[in-house]
Amino acid sequence: MNKSKWVTTDFESLKTLPSFNKEFLLKKDIKKVKLNITCIGLYYPYINNKVVTNNLFMPGWTDYLKRVQYQSYDITNLINKGHNEIKVLIGRGWASADSFGWSKHPYIDRPLLKAKIEITYKDGTKDYIRTDSSWDVYSSYIVSSDIYNGEIQDLNLSSNYIGKVIESTSNIKVIKQEGEDIIKKEIIYPRKMFKDNLNNTLIDFGQNFAGNIEIRINGKKGDKISFIPAEILDKSGNFYNENYREAKSLYEYTLKDGENILFPLFSFEGLRYIKLIEYPDYFSINNIRAHAIHSNMKRTCYIDTGNEKINQLYHNTIYGQLSNYLDVPTDCPQRDERLGWLGDAQVFVKTASINFNTLKFFKKWLHDLALDQHKDGSIEGVCPTIPGHEVEISSGWADACTICPYEIYMTYGDKSILKDSFNMMKKWVDYIKNTGDNPYLFDSGFHFGDWVGTDSPYGSFFGATNLFIVASAFYANSVDILIKTGHILNIDVSDYEDLYKKIVKEFQKTFLKDGLPIGERAIEHSQPEKSTNFTQAAIALILHFSLCEEKDREKLTNALVELIKDNGMRMTTGFLGTPYLLHALTDNGRSDIAYNLLLQEKKPSWLYSINNGATTIWEHYDGISEDGKLWSPIMNSFNHYSYGAVIDWIYCGAGGIKVIKEDYKEIEINPHVDTRLGHLDIKYMTSRGLLHVRWYFQDNATIYEIEIPKDTIAHIKIDNKEYIVNEGSYMFSKGGLD
Ligand code: BGC
Repeated sequence: MNKSKWVTTDFESLKTLPSFNKEFLLKKDIKKVKLNITCIGLYYPYINNKVVTNNLFMPGWTDYLKRVQYQSYDITNLINKGHNEIKVLIGRGWASADSFGWSKHPYIDRPLLKAKIEITYKDGTKDYIRTDSSWDVYSSYIVSSDIYNGEIQDLNLSSNYIGKVIESTSNIKVIKQEGEDIIKKEIIYPRKMFKDNLNNTLIDFGQNFAGNIEIRINGKKGDKISFIPAEILDKSGNFYNENYREAKSLYEYTLKDGENILFPLFSFEGLRYIKLIEYPDYFSINNIRAHAIHSNMKRTCYIDTGNEKINQLYHNTIYGQLSNYLDVPTDCPQRDERLGWLGDAQVFVKTASINFNTLKFFKKWLHDLALDQHKDGSIEGVCPTIPGHEVEISSGWADACTICPYEIYMTYGDKSILKDSFNMMKKWVDYIKNTGDNPYLFDSGFHFGDWVGTDSPYGSFFGATNLFIVASAFYANSVDILIKTGHILNIDVSDYEDLYKKIVKEFQKTFLKDGLPIGERAIEHSQPEKSTNFTQAAIALILHFSLCEEKDREKLTNALVELIKDNGMRMTTGFLGTPYLLHALTDNGRSDIAYNLLLQEKKPSWLYSINNGATTIWEHYDGISEDGKLWSPIMNSFNHYSYGAVIDWIYCGAGGIKVIKEDYKEIEINPHVDTRLGHLDIKYMTSRGLLHVRWYFQDNATIYEIEIPKDTIAHIKIDNKEYIVNEGSYMFSKGGLD
């Protein structure tokens, strides 16, 4: 597309979003026509008034100052011999939003479009139509559209000529699309239309999701339909969306006579309910439905248990992922944030890659992450970064640069992801080494720590765990991953092997005494004098990252169990401790306690949200209290997937599936059964076929049915016996091979 020009217009003077149009005449018989197109902003193309694609949010979200993706479409069927027209609607999107991620026009003041149509004639010759100053600007039916603020359309507006586009220059790198397409797939039908106590007319879709509402209605010119979304109702059953903060998410349509199909093109929202602000009396629930919008990932796992609440938890995790994997792994889809927070991404990556095939999705995002890394190796808390708003550098967030590529490699076996990430990993580790006075600890700077852990006073975002024990534990883990990556890529990492040993030694010297964390013990909402090392999160990290002496494992595990018991058999861990807590227990012989936590129904727990009607994962275990009180609206998302990371324990702990060699070439299956779960049935689609692990109880026996895919070596561990098997179906009963 090099010869095509970037084109734009004077957006500030427009009364609607523009379309950039070009008419062209083709005189010869056509064999094939291809459209290559991109935008710093968002584009939606039509050829001869027909849509080119059903995908949305093209060209996707990258750090537009560094690179932008282009898409390629075969448009042969839309093109005629003779007169043709291409029309491209342009939105501000993430790139040029009036306000996005705390910045005005974060990447660029005005959207830019670049396109090329390549026509191959039957006689073998070619013609090209490229964006340049000959293209026209027209007005459109979209009055305004904004990622956070919603979309306003007037279906009576006709498309009027405004003038010619302006050519512009930009040295932004254009690359072929790396990520998944963004699609609207599932249709979500409304459950009911009703009035709340404040006489608001609400529609309940029965499911929290990210996407858009579609309205099809036979209308009368000038009538209006408008609405705003919400995730929950307040304790009185009334509409509540204060937790959207500044995101207006207002959708407003002025109808034309006859059929109206209303759907936003450049905005999306996270919601379960809508409040209708204006609507004609002929509008009914039959005129409305919704579409979930997300990256087009293939579902790879189905999990079923004998506990309906756990099944709902799994369902909530799936929707949490779909809602937050819209080209970039985000924190939430509703409030004025929706950013690529790294902590959330790394916490959930394993669960995400169990649920869906995330290879392509993460490949693209990890390339962005590598580009966003600062020269000194530091990495901000969000990716793509937001120009004009620097986000803190924090351990556990920046460590996404080691954790995500390694996890993706282990799941899919694609070495290129490690090759592309190795330097980023190394630079991050070196950055930590060179920060502060002690090269063997990460004991300086700002950290989010065990974010929203409940062992600190109510309302605090920071958990009670000492930020530096968390940061140093993640430092060790990142060095460990760097070493493993070096071994896989045949790169000498002996210096880092040495560094790792020193970190572990220093860690033990600084944070542990007689094998236990130094400091006051923290339970829920306890108010330790200052942050402490003696928390559930800290011990989970120590055990899971193997930062203790082997002889002290039992002692630490007992201490962890004591902390949990003292807290009424409930966890206190936040973002960073939660993913490892149940693993730490199971791997150290206390699956019973892991199950207690999984099945706990008093908050903080997973099932508390289920008992309160959650259909996605909450940002806080206690987002809604027993008395209906809500967490502060400044931070209370009901679609924040991080705590959904517990699914990876159901898979790897309860199901016992662990990947030993990348791409499931060698696996361990060591299920941890518990009658309270009733049964467990995991179907995971590997690249070489189905892996099926099922356990259930029959006549006082535990029955295991296991199916191993092609070219996989499986170490099945049941009843203290190990069976090494290949492809095939196996059944075990009480530990015996039938
Ligand atoms: C986000 C989190 C994120 C955090 C940083 C919040 O505003 O929603 O999920 O990781 O900031 O601590």
